[in-house]
Amino acid sequence: MKKTLLYAVTAGMIFGLCFVGATLASADNGPADITLHSTIDKAKKAKPAVFPHAKHQAKLECAECHHSKGADGKQVAFVEGQKIEKCETCHNKAAGMPKKISTFKNAAHENCKGCHKKTDKKLTKCGVCHPKKK
Ligand code: HEC
Ligand code: HEC
Ligand code: HEC
Ligand code: HEC
Repeated sequence: MKKTLLYAVTAGMIFGLCFVGATLASADNGPADITLHSTIDKAKKAKPAVFPHAKHQAKLECAECHHSKGADGKQVAFVEGQKIEKCETCHNKAAGMPKKISTFKNAAHENCKGCHKKTDKKLTKCGVCHPKKK
């Protein structure tokens, strides 16, 4: 009787651990909140941007922002499980991208502000992403 109970408890614990493991393994959603800033363009007045990542993930597809690059240098659309790199890995001056996406700032403004403009013009105000320092 006691043994049966022990088996049940152990089995339950193993199942529980597997379940947690599976959940963690399938959910590399990155940080919930990110402070974005360039590590290449050290502007005189650094302007970090706040980015509620999880809040955006709740409403949008990963592909709205994430993609990759093929051997030919062309964009590769997002697919689940794709290696996600920092925007600046590809969007930097040395990579010679078109002007509107030639730096982290430009690519971010194109992506972030581009969508915000369609969603709600108030979200394009500088202070939404670059809050004044306290
Ligand atoms: C929807 C979000 C968003 C809005 C609105 C926005 N920005 Fe940005 N901005 C970013 C992101 C993201 C970056 C790239 C990360 C960083 O450097 O802060 C950036 C980068 C910058 C940079 C480069 C900062 C640096 O340290 O290299 C400047 C300057 C800048 N923005 C100015 C502005 C100004 C001025 C406005 C208003 C006209 C504005 N931004 C509106 C998101 C935004
Ligand atoms: C609205 C835009 C947006 C959406 C939607 C979005 N992300 Fe992100 N994500 C970003 C930005 C911006 C970064 C920071 C990139 C950087 O630091 O250059 C980031 C960072 C990450 C990182 C960390 C990468 C690293 O090494 O720093 C992971 C992992 C990630 N995202 C996964 C996801 C997944 C999975 C989804 C979909 C469920 C998703 N993201 C949806 C914009 C987005
Ligand atoms: C692995 C390289 C790579 C990474 C990482 C990357 N991009 Fe791109 N991105 C590209 C390429 C390649 C293009 C196409 C360039 C062209 O049209 O000449 C592109 C195009 C874009 C465009 C133009 C509009 C479009 O979607 O075609 C925007 C905006 C953009 N990227 C923003 C971002 C942002 C924001 C991030 C980070 C969340 C990011 N990119 C990460 C390679 C990358
Ligand atoms: C494809 C559309 C889309 C993209 C791309 C996008 N956003 Fe947003 N963003 C939204 C929407 C929609 C809201 C309003 C969400 C709400 O009020 O619940 C929002 C709200 C915000 C807010 C205000 C959050 C709040 O708590 O009220 C910030 C800050 C922000 N976005 C930053 C960014 C930055 C930085 C980027 C680029 C790295 C970005 N967004 C890219 C759609 C987008």
